[in-house]
Amino acid sequence: MQHLEGLAPLPVARGEGPWLIDADGRRYLDAISSWWVNLFGHCNPRINAAITDQLTQIEHVMLAGATHAPVVELSERLGRLTGLGHAFYASDGASATEIALKMSAHYWRNAGHPGKNGFISLENGYHGETVGALSVTDIPLFKATYAPLLRHTKQVPTPDMRRAEPGESAEAWALRCAEALDAHLAEHAATTAAFILEPLVQGAAGMAMYHPAYLARARELCDRHQVHLIADEIAVGFGRTGTMFACEQACVPFPPAGEDSAQKTPSNAARAQPAAIRPDFICLSKGLTGGYLPLSAVLTSDAVYAAFYGADTALGFLHSHSYTGNPLACRAALAVLDIFEHDNVIAANRVKAIEFTKIVEEVAAHRRVEHFRHLGMIWAFDVSDASPGFADRFHRVALAQGVFIRPIGNTVYAMPPYVVDAGAMRMLVDALLVSLGEAGV
Ligand SMILES: Cc1ncc(COP(=O)(O)O)c(C=O)c1O
Repeated sequence: MQHLEGLAPLPVARGEGPWLIDADGRRYLDAISSWWVNLFGHCNPRINAAITDQLTQIEHVMLAGATHAPVVELSERLGRLTGLGHAFYASDGASATEIALKMSAHYWRNAGHPGKNGFISLENGYHGETVGALSVTDIPLFKATYAPLLRHTKQVPTPDMRRAEPGESAEAWALRCAEALDAHLAEHAATTAAFILEPLVQGAAGMAMYHPAYLARARELCDRHQVHLIADEIAVGFGRTGTMFACEQACVPFPPAGEDSAQKTPSNAARAQPAAIRPDFICLSKGLTGGYLPLSAVLTSDAVYAAFYGADTALGFLHSHSYTGNPLACRAALAVLDIFEHDNVIAANRVKAIEFTKIVEEVAAHRRVEHFRHLGMIWAFDVSDASPGFADRFHRVALAQGVFIRPIGNTVYAMPPYVVDAGAMRMLVDALLVSLGEAGV
């Protein structure tokens, strides 16, 4: 609260496409999609219409002993999209993480392996901040204070391509990290239920991007060692990385590790063999409702479903939230899926991303910028000489330029709603350049 005295929150009165409009009518580009949730703009007429229509039918009914058409249709469509035909609903991302962790451990218990109840996550991973989710999150700022409350979990090295040795390719580094995962699993598989990761981009770590070969290796290793793979697509799902889900970009190395170029960019993947992976659990939230309403879903396989199927209540997955599968939120999600289908959003975004990257690349040449990176509708870079308080100062200067952006530490990133146009991206770049050039930022 003391910090707010120096940096008052933006009083938002309205939204329109990618724009936030304050009480005085000033417009700000929502360059980070309101914490990565917004896909098709604020006050999108099609999503508004779906929710308004649902409001005239049923606003909410509990999802125990009752059901409703929007949740049934959404489950079927998400099942088709992910290849995982069983959906469990909650209200936010952290709850989805909790559900996936609990369901995985409970699966192993039902399968006769109660000792398989430990979890692995990636170094610097982020999966939410409730007690269970925070146990697999590895961001010291959020975690350290609550350490005594948390379950002990193990973190394996992050394939974050910025950590590659000089001259080492992103792919070779990712495969070295996978070796560390292999070594850990070889020793601890008997006490490990699941490995949870954010596919391709570790958002809260500062948009840390990694080579998709890691995903294929992680799938292979989890299979080999009989450990579940949980893909936390809460931030990267719904087209953010260029495919509907990031797991679709998994690839097996080609040429073999070591022979690749030293270029540290995700586009190395273009030379590898695509091999989409199917995790045992996919966690979805954020973009699921286009940024309208709190909803999350955990999708899982027939095998997991079967382990809970039976007459004994204790075998069942006992977990509930009052607003689970809220009909208004489900209608928003269905409207989002309709927009993806009717507007062929993934293909359209591919074209836009090329155009926008040309615009944003101007920033890459700035003397303070390092590790410029891009994937799908995410652009990020680190500021080499950022001093303490950089993120707040950058935020303030950018706001004065009409751009709402919040760096993570020394990482500046843009993750705009997909409805942004080239003019807005140009404005964003101008604001970034002014903010980078401003004395004291
Ligand atoms: C990858 C990932 N997982 C989980 C979460 C937690 O979601 P929520 O904030 O809805 O609890 C986030 C939020 O940023 C996230 O980025």
